[in-house]
This record gives sequence, C-alpha cells and structure tokens, in this order.
Amino acid sequence: MNQIDWKNLPFGYFKTDYNVRSYYRNGLWGEMEISSSEQITMHMAATCLHYGQEAFEGLKAFRGKDGKVRIFRMDENWKRMNNSARGIMMAEIPWELFHEAVITAVKLNQKYVPPYGEGASLYIRPLLIGTGPQVGVKPATEYLFMVFVGPVGPYFKEGFSPVKMEIVRDYHRAAPKGTGHIKVGGNYAASLVPAHRAHQDGYASVLFLDSAEGKYIDEAGPANFFGIKGNTYITPSSTSILPSITNKSLQALAKEIGMDVEVRPVPVEELAEFEEVGACGTAAVISPICSIIDRDTTHGYHYCKEGKVGTISSKLYTMLRAIQEGEEPDNWGWITILE
Ligand code: PLP
Ligand code: COI
Repeated sequence: MNQIDWKNLPFGYFKTDYNVRSYYRNGLWGEMEISSSEQITMHMAATCLHYGQEAFEGLKAFRGKDGKVRIFRMDENWKRMNNSARGIMMAEIPWELFHEAVITAVKLNQKYVPPYGEGASLYIRPLLIGTGPQVGVKPATEYLFMVFVGPVGPYFKEGFSPVKMEIVRDYHRAAPKGTGHIKVGGNYAASLVPAHRAHQDGYASVLFLDSAEGKYIDEAGPANFFGIKGNTYITPSSTSILPSITNKSLQALAKEIGMDVEVRPVPVEELAEFEEVGACGTAAVISPICSIIDRDTTHGYHYCKEGKVGTISSKLYTMLRAIQEGEEPDNWGWITILE
C-alpha cells in the first residue's frame, strides 16, 4: 500500500481491499459474502436502474488516541436505511446482517482507518438496491445489500472553516409528501444541477427552501441546517428533510451544555437573527457558514465575525469529535468499539 496522505484526503471514493454483500432472493437474505471486486453485475432491467429503487447510508469510523476504532451510531443508520427501504418498497435489512456487514467491512479494511489527529475518518457506505427485473413500475423481488468503506477528509474542502452558501428558489430538492425524509438516490439527482451551479459560482453548497411555499429553510445541500440564537439551538422541522443523526447528536449535546433546542419551521428572514449558522451531517460534520446569499434578491446574511467560527459551533464540534475519538466518555451509547 502506498503511503496515504491522510491530512489531504478529499471526500471521495477510495479503493480499499474488501467489501461485503448479501443477496435477497425468494423472500430471504443470503449469507454475507466478502468480495475484493469493485464491480457488481446485474440484470439490465433491475429496478434500481429504471425506477430508482436505491437507498444508501453514510456513517463513520474513527481511530481514537488509544488506537481503538470507534463506529458512530450504527443502529441509527440501520433504522434509517430500513425507513428508506419501506419508503420505496424494498426488502428491509435485519439488524444482525447490517451489524455484521458494517463490522466486517471495517475490520477487513482496518489499515485504512486514518490515524488519530489527521482530521480524517473511515467513511462507511451501506447500499441497498433493487436487482430483480421489472419493466412495469413495480418493486423488485430481488435485492442486493452491500457495504464498502474508504478513508475520507472533510466533505467541504474548507473543513471546520466557514463556508459560503446560496439560497435557491428555482430548484427544489424534494416535495413535502415525497421522498425527502428518506435517503434515496432520486433526492440527490434532483440536487445536482443547483449544486453544480452553486460550486461554479464559488459556493460550497445550496440552501434549499421548502417546496410548498418557498418560505422556510429545508436542507443545506447534503446536510441539515442549524442556527444559534442566544442560548438556543434551532433547526428546521419539515416533512422533506432527512432526519440527520449528526443533528440529533448535536441537539443532545446542546441540551447537555444547558441550551434550549427548538425544532420548528425556520423562515428565511430569521437568518438575520442568528448569531451562528452551520450545516451538519456525517460527511460535513459541522460546517460553519460565514455567508448566505439569496440568489434571487442578492441579499446577504453574514456570520463569523473576522472569519472566526462561533463559540457555540466550536464547542459542539469539539464535544462531538471528543466522543467519536474516545477522548470523552460515551455516556450516550453512541459508540461501537471494534474488538
Ligand atoms: N441531509 C441530507 C440530504 C444528507 O444527505 C445527509 C447525510 O447523510 C444529512 C442531511 C445528514 O445526516 P447524517 O447526520 O445522518 O449523516
Ligand atoms: C453523509 O453525510 O453521509 C452523506 O450522505 C452526504 C453525501 C455524501 C451524500
């Protein structure tokens, strides 16, 4: 293995040694298989190719100061994957299979878990796809569940430095009663054009508004949005937002340090009242936001005085990383230590 430049890893695909797979046929999940191939073969009429029967997850493993590998909130990703499966009529994954697949994929690729202190982690990508053929719009009868992993750096190249975001009104990510609340590929396809345009214009990501009224903040690209006002952590509630496990964890940590937490619709104008704002997610961790520009009105909202990340965002980030890297005790039962 060539020396990996851990400090400068991008967030992207990285070939590792093994992945794991299980096939669902005749109403049953098969034995988990270990593979060293990066390829899968499938029927040309597989439902994932035609009708979007596809869901994925994203979670991370961290190398602690003590050298141990810690996986963060795997049970939550399992629950959410099955929620996605139900949402688009795919076979659900039993906990035993999900757990074994994640643990095995991490264990077999342990040398790719970045060392402590490099600001990198091992990204774990469970994937569930409809592989059975259909030409009518119907769910498949066969599925493939797989898990691959790879070392990654921060999702936004800025890392824990403030990013710029753009409010878009000419694109929506997901409809209120659609699939925004589950982690299926179609939501990401819908975000590609506005995200590409935002990158070209120098923004890290887009802020999507609710697609019913265009009045409230929905998602911060591939992450949830939060704002800090005084002693309150505020994050949008909406039927088209993906319930972020990172956001849920930050809410718990905010309460632990005596903050109030509000989960409610957040009107765009409220952006003027926040002292700190950020995007949060597994890939993004916390990405502090320094500027939000409304693409239509060109109105700007600015944070991070003198380019500095706000104190509460910094505190929450430090608390979360400390649990993930084993520097602080896991009082929440969030961590699975690799044996
Ligand atoms: N929102 C979207 C659209 C996402 O893709 C993600 C990433 O998974 C999140 C939010 C953050 O969720 P989590 O913190 O569980 O990774
Ligand atoms: C994550 O945070 O895990 C994501 O899935 C974001 C993106 C890579 C889709």
